[in-house]
Amino acid sequence: MMSAQDEAKKAAGRRVIEEFVTDGMKLGLGSGTTSHFFVRELGKHVANGLKLTCTTTSRSTNDVAREAGIALTDPNEIGEIDLTVDGPDEIDRDFNMIKGGGACLLWEKIIAHASKRMITVCDESKIVDRLGGFPLPVEVVQFAWKQTERMVTEALADHRIKNAVIERRMRDGQPVVTDSGNFILDCRCGVIPAPARLEIELNRIPGVVENGLFTRESRGMVVGRFDGSTYVAL
Ligand code: 5RP
Repeated sequence: MMSAQDEAKKAAGRRVIEEFVTDGMKLGLGSGTTSHFFVRELGKHVANGLKLTCTTTSRSTNDVAREAGIALTDPNEIGEIDLTVDGPDEIDRDFNMIKGGGACLLWEKIIAHASKRMITVCDESKIVDRLGGFPLPVEVVQFAWKQTERMVTEALADHRIKNAVIERRMRDGQPVVTDSGNFILDCRCGVIPAPARLEIELNRIPGVVENGLFTRESRGMVVGRFDGSTYVAL
């Protein structure tokens, strides 16, 4: 039996297809459980004849898309993407987001920027008044990562985030390594006062590859409520 949250994610994915996906589109497929519900729903439409050209934002989504019967195109070959659909860890009402809970933020940001439009798909639990409750993921190269971590701490303090707690992401006793071979630093920030400025400043630090603030990408969200209904905010 699916949880109400999973039902909400699935309903939101269906609504995205109804509202935004049309025959012949080039699509970017996001990562994480919500995006994967969307991809599986999309697979049913492809089986019924919908023609799409798709590329993805992670190795995990490659696997889900292939299982769903969706052929994939190399991101180097697809050209400009019409629409990317991806999920957030947190999203505010201006569509600023924290992403990267699944460690896919770098590929997700590249594909979002390679797209004419990005629409966020989520259940209602992801909507917040202010970003920062979810730890902000920062992807860093492995070399001298503790030096980079120190510089990230300083940058956060410069942005009025004084008591951030930073941890290198671990799984089963081993550091998590991203699809691009980097580490993830999870930064417990509390409220982030100026997400757009912080996004830019973090990326100026040598050793930072990308961070999970997405403040310029999403143009709208499709939200699934736990009662099974959905709505679109643009
Ligand atoms: C992966 C991501 C995901 O899109 C984000 O973590 C949301 O995942 P889920 O839908 O499982 O909550 O950014 O890096």
